[in-house]
Amino acid sequence: MAIPKTGADIRQAFLDFYAVREHEVLPSASLVPEDPTVLLTIAGMLPFKPIFLGQRPAEFPRATTSQKCIRTNDIENVGRTARHHTFFEMLGNFSFGDYFKSQAIAWAWELSTKVFGLPPERLVVSVFEDDDEAFALWRDEIGIPAHRIQRMGEKDNFWVSGPTGPCGPCSEIYYDFKPELGDDAIDLEDDSRFLEFYNLVFMQYNRDAEGNLTPLASQNIDTGMGLDRMAQILQQVPNNYETDLIFPIIEKAAAIANVDYATADEATQVALKVIGDHTRAVVHMLADGIVASNEGRGYVLRRLIRRVIRYGRLIGIEREFTPIVAEMAIALGESAYPNVRKMERVIKVSLQREEVSFLKTLDRGERILSDIIEQVGPGGQLSGTDAFKLFDTYGFPLELTQEIAAEKNLTVDAGGFEAEMEKQRIRSQQAHETVDLTAQSTLDRLADHIEQTEFLGYTRSSSDAVLQVLMMDGKSVQQAEAGSEVQVVLDQTPFYAESGGQIGDRGYLSGDNVLVRVEDVKKESAFFVHFGRIERGTLHVGDSVVAQIDLACRRRVQAHHTATHLLQAALKRIVDDNISQAGSLVAFDRLRFDFNCPRALTPEEVQQVEDQVNTWIAEAHAAQISVMPLADAKARGAIAMFGEKYSSEVRVLDFPGVSMELCGGTHVANTAEIGLFKIVSETGVAAGIRRIEAVAGPAVLEYLNLRDGVVKELSDRFKVKPEEVVDRITTLQTELKTTQKQLETVKSQLALAKATQLLDAAEAVGEFQVLVASMDDADPDALKTAAEQLQQKLKNGAVVLGSAPAADKVSLVAAFSPAVIQKGVQAGKFIGAIAKLCGGGGGGRPNLAQAGGRDASKLPEALDQARQQLHTDLQ
Ligand code: SER
Repeated sequence: MAIPKTGADIRQAFLDFYAVREHEVLPSASLVPEDPTVLLTIAGMLPFKPIFLGQRPAEFPRATTSQKCIRTNDIENVGRTARHHTFFEMLGNFSFGDYFKSQAIAWAWELSTKVFGLPPERLVVSVFEDDDEAFALWRDEIGIPAHRIQRMGEKDNFWVSGPTGPCGPCSEIYYDFKPELGDDAIDLEDDSRFLEFYNLVFMQYNRDAEGNLTPLASQNIDTGMGLDRMAQILQQVPNNYETDLIFPIIEKAAAIANVDYATADEATQVALKVIGDHTRAVVHMLADGIVASNEGRGYVLRRLIRRVIRYGRLIGIEREFTPIVAEMAIALGESAYPNVRKMERVIKVSLQREEVSFLKTLDRGERILSDIIEQVGPGGQLSGTDAFKLFDTYGFPLELTQEIAAEKNLTVDAGGFEAEMEKQRIRSQQAHETVDLTAQSTLDRLADHIEQTEFLGYTRSSSDAVLQVLMMDGKSVQQAEAGSEVQVVLDQTPFYAESGGQIGDRGYLSGDNVLVRVEDVKKESAFFVHFGRIERGTLHVGDSVVAQIDLACRRRVQAHHTATHLLQAALKRIVDDNISQAGSLVAFDRLRFDFNCPRALTPEEVQQVEDQVNTWIAEAHAAQISVMPLADAKARGAIAMFGEKYSSEVRVLDFPGVSMELCGGTHVANTAEIGLFKIVSETGVAAGIRRIEAVAGPAVLEYLNLRDGVVKELSDRFKVKPEEVVDRITTLQTELKTTQKQLETVKSQLALAKATQLLDAAEAVGEFQVLVASMDDADPDALKTAAEQLQQKLKNGAVVLGSAPAADKVSLVAAFSPAVIQKGVQAGKFIGAIAKLCGGGGGGRPNLAQAGGRDASKLPEALDQARQQLHTDLQ
C-alpha cells in the first residue's frame, strides 16, 4: 500500500486504519463546543468529555474522528515556529472503557510505522515519569531501546482538558528530523530536531477545581495526531505551513502582494504564514456560525481577521483581499467540511465588511501615531503603553509602530509593550478561555455518585422525582429552609433546561409539606439544575417530590419554538436560501431570531414571510419527530444548528415539505396549535446580521390588545372612530404647523414693536448711530429681524442686540451699515469677540452676523463691552 502523502489521504488513512479496527467513524463536531466551560473546541476529545466523565453513555465503545480545533494561547508563535497553529485538525482514536494502554500503544506504533511508513529509528517516545507500565510496554512489546524512551514530568506528559475535567498520564511519539546528531543528544525540547506528532492519553482521572484526582468509572483512551504535523513529515517540507493543507493560501496571498515566498525575507515569510494559518481558522469559524464581535469567541474571530489584514498590509497589500484568500481556504476545506462551501457567501461578506471597517481603524491609528510622534519629538522614545494601545485598539503590530517611529528618529519601549501584552494575556485568559461555574464544579465532583437527569418533558408535564443534589449559591447542602434560593438536581424531570435558545420551564416541585417554585432550569453537562425558591417547608437531599411544569407557559414556548422553525424556512424560501441562524431566543412572550443577511428586508418581504408562516399554520402540518444518524439527517437536508450535540444520533423535527431541522427543543404537535404569528420588528443588530422579533400563539393576542388599547385611547381622546384616527392626526399636524408659523410671525412682529421703542436709545457717536440693547428672551430669528430693521431705520447705524432665551443660552446679533464696515468694523468678527464673553462664539458676514453663548448671566457685561467697543471703534 502506497504511503499517503496529501493531507486528504493522511486523514483518510488514519480513519480507515481505526475503522477496520472496529472504531465508529464520527464526523467532526462544531468549533462551537457544547461544553460551556470552554470557548472553542480545543481538542478531539472535547465532544466526548461527558462520556469520559460518565455523564452520558457511550453509543460505541470505540470511535475515531478528524476534529476541527482552534487554540489561540500561542497565537504570537504562529508563523514564527515550524508548527504553531490556531486552526488545526486533530486525528484521534478513542476508547470508552474498552481497550487501554497496551492496545493503544500497539496500534499507534503500527499506524506510524506501517501505514505512514515512518522508520522506527526515526522515532523517539516519551512517557509520564511514574508510568513504568507504559515504559515497559514500549520497551518490551514494541522493542524500542530504553534510551529512546524518555520520562517526562507533569507539564509535558500529563494531559488535562482544562482547569478541571478528565485527564491522565500520556505518552507521545516524536519524529527525529536530525538523526545524524545521535542518540546521546536526544533532547525532546529541541523542536528544531524533534516533532511530537501523536499523543496517547490514558484517560483515567477527573480533576476538580482544587486539583484533586478521582479515578473515573472506566479507563479510557484519547489520542491526538496533528494532521498538519504528519503532513509536514510525509511531504518533507520544512514546516507545517508549506504542506498542501495551507500552502495554496500562502501562494494566493503572495500573488496578491506580488512577492515570491521562496525568495522573500523572513518577515515576509512569517506574514504569509500567519495569513495562511489564520485564514483557514476564520473560514471555519465563520462557517460554524461564529460572528465577529468584541467578546467571547466573536472576539477571537475578530482578532484573527484583523491579524490577517494587518499582516497583509505589512507585506504591501493595499487592496481588499480577505475574501480572495478565503476562497482558497474554502476550496481546500470543502471536501472534508462541506459547510465551508455552503456558508461561502456569509464568509466572504463578513470578511469584506470586517476588512472595510478595520482599514478605517488602521487609518485612524496612523493619524494617532503621527500625533504621538510629534509630541514625543525626534530622538525620544514612544512609551510601551502607547505602542500597546496602538496594537490593541488600532491593530498596529509593534514592528509597524517601530518602523514608522524609526523613520522619524524615535525608538519604542519594546519592554513596556511586552509587559502590557502580558497583562492583556492574563486578562483575556481569565475573561475568555474559561467560564467559572460553581454549580458545575460541585456537580463535576458529585458526578460519579449521582444519576444523570433523565428528561421526560417531551411527553410528560409532571413526574415523581428524587432530589439528588441540593445547592445554595452553587455549594452543596443537605437541607434548606423556606425562603431560600436553591438549585436542585433531580433524577428525572419534565422540566426543559434552557438550550438551543429555548428558555427553561417554570413550575413547582412539591413534597411532604414542602413547595418550591421553579423559576428557571439550566443544563450543566448531563444534569438539569432547577433554580427556585422554597415557598414552604424544608427541603432535604433524598426527598421524593412531584415535579410539575407550568403547562400554560410551556405551550407558549412551544408555539414560539415551532414558529421560529417556520420563520427560518419562510426566510429561506422568500428572501434567500443562504440565510442561516446566527442566534435565537424562544421565550414565553416572544421569539427573537438573528440571521445572516447582508441587507435589510423590504416591508413587502416582511409581510410575505409573515403570510407564509400563517399559511403553514392554517394548513395544519403535523410534526414528525424521529431520531436518526446525523449523516442521514444531513443527507435528507435537515437544517443543522451550530454547537449541536455531538452525537451520531440526532433528533429531527420535520414538518414535511415545510421545514426540517435538528432540534432538541419542545414543539407543538401540529402547526395549527400555534394559531397566529405576527412579526413585530425587523432590524439590524451587527454588520451582516438581521433580527426579527415576533410573537406567536396567545402572545399575538396580548400584543394586539396592547396596540388596540393605544388606538382605543386615541379614538376616545380625539372623539373619532378608530379608523379615523390617522386622518385626524394628519389634520392636527397640519393645524399645528400653521399655528406655529402664525406664532412665529406674531413673535417677530412683537419683537419689531419692541425694537421700535428701542430707537430712542440710539446714541450718536461721531457721524454714526450706535444702538446696543437687550431684548429679554427673544429667540434668535426675531432678534435678527429686529436688528436688521433697526439698522435700516438708523443713519449709519451700528446695531448690537442680545437676548437670553434660557439661563444657559445667549443669542447675539450685530447689524452694521456700509459706513460702519468702511470704518473697518465688521459684524462677524465683532460679534464673535463679544460672544466669547458669554462662553460661546459665532460670526458671519461683515454687515450681519449672529452668535451664541452659554452663560446668560454674562449678557449685560457683554453688551456693555460691545457699546464701549463701538464707541472706541467709531469715534
Ligand atoms: N487530548 C489530547 C491532546 O489534545 C490527545 O488527543 O493532545
